[in-house]
This record gives sequence, structure tokens and C-alpha cells, in this order.
Amino acid sequence: MTSLPGSQEATAAWELLLPAAAAPARARGRALQSALREAVRTGRLPPRTRLPSSRDLARDLGVSRGLVTEAYEQLTAEGYLRSGRGAGTWVSDAVRAAAPPVRDLSPRRAADSRVDFVAGRPDLSLFPRAAWSAAQRAVLAELPHEELGYPDPRGLPRLRTALAELLTRRRGVVADPERIVVCSGVTQAVTLLGFVLHARGEHTVGVEDPGSPQYEALFATAGPRVARLPLDDEGLALDPLRASGVRAVVTTPGHHFPSGIAYSARRRARLLAWARETDGLIVEDDYDGDFRYDRAPVGALQGLDPDHVAYTGSVSKSLVPGLRLGWLVVPGHLADKVVARKQYMDLGNPSLDQAVLARFIERGDHDRQLRRCQRAYKERRDALLRALDEHLPGTRVSGIAAGLHAIATLPECHGPEDRLLARCAAAGVTVRPLGAYGSAGGGGVSLVLGYAHLSPARIREGVRLLADAARSTAPGR
Ligand SMILES: Cc1ncc(COP(=O)(O)O)c(C=O)c1O
Repeated sequence: MTSLPGSQEATAAWELLLPAAAAPARARGRALQSALREAVRTGRLPPRTRLPSSRDLARDLGVSRGLVTEAYEQLTAEGYLRSGRGAGTWVSDAVRAAAPPVRDLSPRRAADSRVDFVAGRPDLSLFPRAAWSAAQRAVLAELPHEELGYPDPRGLPRLRTALAELLTRRRGVVADPERIVVCSGVTQAVTLLGFVLHARGEHTVGVEDPGSPQYEALFATAGPRVARLPLDDEGLALDPLRASGVRAVVTTPGHHFPSGIAYSARRRARLLAWARETDGLIVEDDYDGDFRYDRAPVGALQGLDPDHVAYTGSVSKSLVPGLRLGWLVVPGHLADKVVARKQYMDLGNPSLDQAVLARFIERGDHDRQLRRCQRAYKERRDALLRALDEHLPGTRVSGIAAGLHAIATLPECHGPEDRLLARCAAAGVTVRPLGAYGSAGGGGVSLVLGYAHLSPARIREGVRLLADAARSTAPGR
């Protein structure tokens, strides 16, 4: 194939078409078209590349000339190719090669990883299929036709009422149904707030460091940059917060992600005082607020000052993340703007799923599900603690009072972190260091160990593999 002046050379791209030419006769025409389309899409045939005449290409590929003419005509009609009288056929300028695949940022995972201590994943097999399916059947039978139109962008009134009751009762949230916006998880709640804050001139939003890596990307889509703000033993440190000049900050005060500490009462009060003084906004991500093992859950910060705290949570931990259902309880002065954003973004969440969740909550199924998960996850947490005690004595474990993960700080004698992670991957156990989530405190190797999705037997196996890997990295080995 030759190129028009100024175009790049296409290197024997017709070789890409040979497999298509070898396709069974009936499928050969379509195969040729797909292969040619793919060669253009992926950039193997760059824009302005001149294609051989149909006669030459048919001869090179050993197919009939009619098939090639047909392929050229079809792709010309679709806009991939262009042709001109006497000028032949060439690749259209309008085509842009598809972007290369997104780089996989997940941690090094052994191909045959037997145990993955990924944090924040609930046990998907605990999804209450029977109760959910009963609620689905009932909703399909009873939902009036008019509720199948575009929903209220804030969410179905029935679901907002059920959520208001649930959040007030379980989390101490001041939850007026008029201020609740049903959304696609905490992820969308944070994104919506990002857009609204940016529109009112907040170009930077504070996030916890260490913290959830996803906020930075979410805010990048919405506009604001992020300022990483350090924590101390009691929660977000106030001096760096003040010095940063931000007027909005995302926090996980009930169970900081990933360290697992609960903000102290004193720090909660000082944070609220900061918000009042600066007329700022605290975004409270209550991502796993339902799971507390040693005493009743710490009530939501939002309950203390609903005008300065936007509260968000979802069913991603209590049911499954695949439902993509969550909520945002938004201060009155931001409510209209958030709802308008939500409306432009997707016209609201699917009505049927919302109605099913409403019924699921109303009939007590959600409370039952929480009790069931709470029992299972406490048992797994205890299995993790026992296994660490047995196989890695001297390990300091923190953040265990709540949530779905714990932090294990291995004794100093266990060698460098890099080597440990590589040995773990080779042994078939996937672990992530605390440092992967931002600045980590010094002193030993700290690992974030998610346990909720693993059976006690898998947890024991994983800790045993981790202990073997740790021993093999010890100085002198
Ligand atoms: C701290 C934190 N917040 C929010 C989320 C996302 O939650 P959702 O599925 O509700 O969007 C996660 C995900 O695991 C998380 O770890």
C-alpha cells in the first residue's frame, strides 16, 4: 500500500487481512470488511493511506475482486475510507485511532493469586437474593404506570422517605427527605458536589492523606484540584487544614479510610467550628458506617450541623456495589444546585431499583441484612486477628473496631517492603501497603488487609502465606 504525500507509511497492512481472506467462503466478505475496519480504527492504516487497487488487493489476498470492491464501498459508506474518480481509495482523515488500553493501576497480583486482601470489598455471596427478588416481584406488581416515567431527579419520594427513617435511626443523620438526593453511590455524590463547589468558585478541595485514591480522579472530572491534608491520632489535623485555605474537605470521620481510626469527639467539634468560621463544607463519606463491632456505631457528624456537612453513603458495602445506589444528604443552601446537576447528568436513578430498595428497607430486610453481614464480618475479623497472632507474632493491628479491613504493622525485623510485596505476589497472596493510599507513618511495614470478602479459612491461608513471605525477607535470609 502506498501513501498520499505527507501521510505515514503503512507497513504491509494487507497482511492483517490474510486471516480474513482464509475465512470460509460464506463469511469471507464480512471478515474482510471487519479486518479492514479494525486496521483503520487501531491506526495500523493511518489517515490518508492509499489502498491498493481492488484488482491488486484481490490478487494478493487470493480472493475475488468483487469482495474487495464490496468492502471498499461499504467502508466508504461508513466513513472509514474515501475515494475519488481516478484517484483510487484512501483512509479518511476523519478517523481517529482508538486510544491505547487504559494502564492497569491495580497492585501486582500473582496470576494464581489464592488470596487477595483487597480492602473495601463486601462478601458478594451474602447478597440476599431471595428477599431482593421477592421485593422486585412485589414492586413490579404494584408500581403504578406513571412511576415508570422519568423519576424525580432527587429520587423516588418513597425511597427518600425510607432512607430518611433509616439514616436517622441508624446513623443519627438529620435526614429530611426533601434534602436527600438518591445517586449512583458515594462516587456520584462526590462528583456532584465537585461540580457544584467548582461552580461557586472553589478551585481546590481538601482530602485526607492517606485517603481514598478515587477522590482525586472524581474531582478532576468535576473541576476542583485536591489538596492532600494530613491526619494525626485524632483525625484530620486542623492547622494544615486552615493553612491550606480550602473551604471544602472530604472526610471519613466514622472510620477513616484506610487507617481505621474514628475521629475523636474533640476533633469532630473543632472541625465543625472550622466549617462555621469559614462558612465551609465538610463532606462526610460514611462508606462503611454500618459496621462497628465493639460498640454502637459512632453517630454521623452531619447530625451535629446539617448546614455545614454533606453526608453520603451507599448500599455498596451492606448489599453489593453493583447496585450503584447511594444517597447524599445535602445542606439546604446547596440542594437546588446539586439536584440540577443530577438532572443534567442522568435524569435520575432507575425507578424500579429505587422502588425495590425502598420496599427492602420498609419491610426490615435491610436491617436483617446488616445484622447478617455484621455477624459474618466480625467472625472474619476475629479470624484475621487470631491468624496474625499465631503466624506473625509481634504484628500490631489497628483499625479493627469497625469496617471491612484492618491495618497490620509487621515487626521491624521483616525486611524491606518492596521485597515483601514481591514475595507475597510470588506466593499467591495479594496485599497492599498503607503507603499506596498516600503518606504512611514511619516505623515498619504496614499493610491494609481487607477481610470481609474472605472466608475464615481463606483468611488463615492468606496470613500463613503472608507469614512465609515475611520470614523469607527477614534480614540474613
Ligand atoms: C472510602 C470510600 N468511599 C467511597 C467508595 C465508593 O463507594 P460507592 O460504591 O458508594 O461509590 C469507596 C469504595 O470502596 C471507598 O473506599
